[in-house]
Amino acid sequence: MIAAQAIDTSDKAAFYRDLAKQLKALLEGEHDSIANAANTSALIFQMVPDLNWAGFYFLASDEELVLGPFQGKPACVRIAVGNGVCGTAVELGTSMLIKDVHDFPGHIACDAASRSELVVLLEDEEGVFGVLDLDSPTPGRFDSADQAGIEALAAIYVAASSFVD
Ligand code: SME
Repeated sequence: MIAAQAIDTSDKAAFYRDLAKQLKALLEGEHDSIANAANTSALIFQMVPDLNWAGFYFLASDEELVLGPFQGKPACVRIAVGNGVCGTAVELGTSMLIKDVHDFPGHIACDAASRSELVVLLEDEEGVFGVLDLDSPTPGRFDSADQAGIEALAAIYVAASSFVD
């Protein structure tokens, strides 16, 4: 059995350091990119407070993201690059930290409860191949410490996983 360990969330940097250790241990010895995405989203959803969705979108072509493993309510399957928060992250080649999704023109509301969103890039030596997306029902839920922490988790996921065309 694999059990996630409770972590003190009062110090965000320490919280994400501990979560990174747990993710490395969880993915160790496993290279399957889908299995690792499934376990990464499950760990994040269980451990990071105040989320209503956590999951992956992968580029199926240069123009389109397709839904991958996630936790939360069923979500929209295809997002064009340049659309929504996820597609904008890919188009601009940067993480997106949205304090209030109601203020982001073009936000795609998969779950009407979502009020803030953090999207980080999945990137290897060949470039961006997807995003890791977190939603929260609380406006202003994410800050730069969350962004840095989730970017580190995304990098651990990419390093652990094999991507074969
Ligand atoms: N809100 C995202 C769509 C994906 S869902 O949040 C799961 C967006 O605007 O791209």
